[in-house]
Amino acid sequence: MYKLDDVITVEWEITNRCNASCPQCPRNNYGGSVIESLKLTTITLEQAKKMLPVGSMKSLRTVYFCGTYGDPAVNIELIEICSWLKQYNIQVSLHTNGGLQKPEWWKKLANVLDKDDFVVFSIDGLSDTNHVYRRGVNWKTLINNASAFINAGGNAHWDFIVFRHNEHQVQAAEAFSNTLGFKKFNYKKTHRFINKKHDRVEVWPIYDIHDKLVDKLEIPNNPVYINNQISKLEKVNKQHGDFFTYTMSTPITCYHKSLGKIYIGADGYVFPCGWLHDRMYGIEAEQHPDHKALFKLFEQAGGIEKVNLNYNSLKNIINTDWFPVLESSWTGEGRLSRCGAVCGASFNPVGAQNENVSYWGV
Ligand SMILES: C[S@@+](CC[C@H](N)C(=O)[O-])C[C@H]1O[C@@H](n2cnc3c(N)ncnc32)[C@H](O)[C@@H]1O
Ligand code: SF4
Ligand code: SF4
Repeated sequence: MYKLDDVITVEWEITNRCNASCPQCPRNNYGGSVIESLKLTTITLEQAKKMLPVGSMKSLRTVYFCGTYGDPAVNIELIEICSWLKQYNIQVSLHTNGGLQKPEWWKKLANVLDKDDFVVFSIDGLSDTNHVYRRGVNWKTLINNASAFINAGGNAHWDFIVFRHNEHQVQAAEAFSNTLGFKKFNYKKTHRFINKKHDRVEVWPIYDIHDKLVDKLEIPNNPVYINNQISKLEKVNKQHGDFFTYTMSTPITCYHKSLGKIYIGADGYVFPCGWLHDRMYGIEAEQHPDHKALFKLFEQAGGIEKVNLNYNSLKNIINTDWFPVLESSWTGEGRLSRCGAVCGASFNPVGAQNENVSYWGV
């Protein structure tokens, strides 16, 4: 059983707002409009202090600001929130597209963080390609921000998601990252050509803000950059009849439970991981059987008052009210297909995505 005292790492979606619109991000329609059901929320320092009982979390070591639907740099109190966590010696990191705020802000952030902390800049290409996926991110702003952070002594990592349109730039980007002073360069083999319905997609559309098709994303040509689980999907489907049947029958080993990780959404919902938060909003997620199944589990737990940090304490949510209900779904009634898809025995899309990705302590 999950216990608050066993939590080592918290992933926190400290806002679900974003300046960008990446076409495979759950917050928007293929890079176009923001999904309608997402209620935009940013957590203040005051709310953050009420939500996370840092002082009484015996094993807590790391908080990383990432999330499913937003970019932490949108939160104007982020530096103050980091400062508060540093009072408890918590390791802090964040994932960002880097296109927001001014260099001064990034310098200030570097001064609040210490040698164990880091920022992951999500940069998928160079000046002529980053914007293809990171729609809305200005290259010069991003590089000035990252440089200001690094020059002020901050530890920066560069994550590069490889697509067909940027695969020829991986080595050049790594060389450039070294020139700028990044401590680490990771390339990521995305699993998102398996879509929110868990179907394989060869060509991913890119929409503009009016939801008009303007471009496309494709899997890289170089097998080194391809997530090998995408082709494994067919084998799994053949063996089990279809993917849904596989996900509903495979034994589940919760990856995040094994690592002592939990996830807090900007809307206050708490899960072991963000992959379940992704089941809540957006047409495709809402049409998937998981959406109903998730809300059924919430009901079983006693409703929103029991599973959401705006109404209940983290201790109750994890120790008694919500996590035990979710955990029993892995072996009993009402399991989520997403749990089988991510943490099942014969298919590991997330592990394959992150084969060449490593961070300090996360
Ligand atoms: C929703 S984002 C939140 C953090 C921040 N906005 C960012 O993009 O770095 C969560 C994570 O998903 C990653 N991500 C976005 N699109 C992806 C894709 N197509 N494949 C794999 N990871 C992706 C981001 O780079 C980030 O690490
Ligand atoms: S920057 Fe992050 S949150 Fe924003 S759209 Fe891209 S992946 Fe989503
Ligand atoms: S998908 Fe389910 S089983 Fe996997 S880490 Fe998340 S909660 Fe655990």
